[in-house]
Amino acid sequence: MKLAIGFIGLGDIGAPMATRILMGGFDLVVWNRTASKMDPLVAAGATVARSAADLARRCDIVCLCVDSPQAIEEIVFGLDGVVAGAGRARLLLDNSTTHPQRTREMAQRLKEMTSMAWLDVPVSGGPVGARAGTLAAMAGGDAADLDFARPIIMSYANRVTLMGSVGCGQATKACNQVINFGTIAALAEALTLGERYGLDVSRLPEALSGGFADSNIMKEYDRCVTNNDFTGIGLLVRALGMLYQGDIHPALGGKLGLLMKDIGIALELGHHTSSAMPLMGLLDAQFRVIHNHKPVRTEPDSRP
Ligand SMILES: NC(=O)c1ccc[n+]([C@@H]2O[C@H](COP(=O)([O-])OP(=O)(O)OC[C@H]3O[C@@H](n4cnc5c(N)ncnc54)[C@H](OP(=O)(O)O)[C@@H]3O)[C@@H](O)[C@H]2O)c1
Repeated sequence: MKLAIGFIGLGDIGAPMATRILMGGFDLVVWNRTASKMDPLVAAGATVARSAADLARRCDIVCLCVDSPQAIEEIVFGLDGVVAGAGRARLLLDNSTTHPQRTREMAQRLKEMTSMAWLDVPVSGGPVGARAGTLAAMAGGDAADLDFARPIIMSYANRVTLMGSVGCGQATKACNQVINFGTIAALAEALTLGERYGLDVSRLPEALSGGFADSNIMKEYDRCVTNNDFTGIGLLVRALGMLYQGDIHPALGGKLGLLMKDIGIALELGHHTSSAMPLMGLLDAQFRVIHNHKPVRTEPDSRP
């Protein structure tokens, strides 16, 4: 029988991942809290579920890609959630980026309440990589569950690596984000230095291409600048670069929340494992300054 795949969370990266699953020839059932985001997938051939429970009743694998642990908790264990529709589905495949410890705790609870297994498969490569089907996927769980889900994962990724038991995919993603955020900070610092010297820093990616300082982060930053796309990496580099020039733009700070979540996960894991995290501690503070920034008052302060 053909596998039916469910996908919950059609946000910036979830929607292109779900589209790739559909393009891979799988029967796809979708559910998203904001119903209008399902329209493009339905037009492409997906079926709509009424709730996460309804989706779980109709599918063999339930994929999630949402933005917070609270959302995962609600979708899996809440009213009309996956647990309420458990029976057919054998596997929950979580593509969200979230806490390894919390993942292990939820996987344990899901196993006790249903017979479903949990596979954490966070990804790296952004919406661009999802659209191209070239994401790097890092998995935590049983090898047999990964083998079962591999054809689905390979519809949006060009690599999936089993890193250990449940939670290890998320711990690997935390390592990935430490490297990403460190590179982003170095890039922002280098751009600031070059600009203050008087270089045309828009040519820095071209000048460094192929050398040791070249990276996918720098290529993605270059793509963001070319396309005027200041959402993910473009936003982070620009926000830090402005801070290093003594400027904070409130409009940039307001958009940092989802991206800062990943530094928080890495720091929490560092705390849990007693690991020194000097770079992430510094970056967390710098991003908080930008995120919490309020425009300067023009009225004089009347307090004594
Ligand atoms: N964007 C990236 O470049 C990227 C790259 C790698 C990994 N990730 C990870 O992928 C995950 C999703 O990221 P994204 O960029 O796609 O985020 P996003 O665009 O903000 O989308 C978030 C999704 O979560 C859903 N959601 C949030 N709270 C919910 C709740 N309580 N109940 C039901 N649905 C809920 C949203 O539904 P609504 O549509 O109703 O709001 C939306 O579908 C995150 O964990 C992120 O860290 C993102």
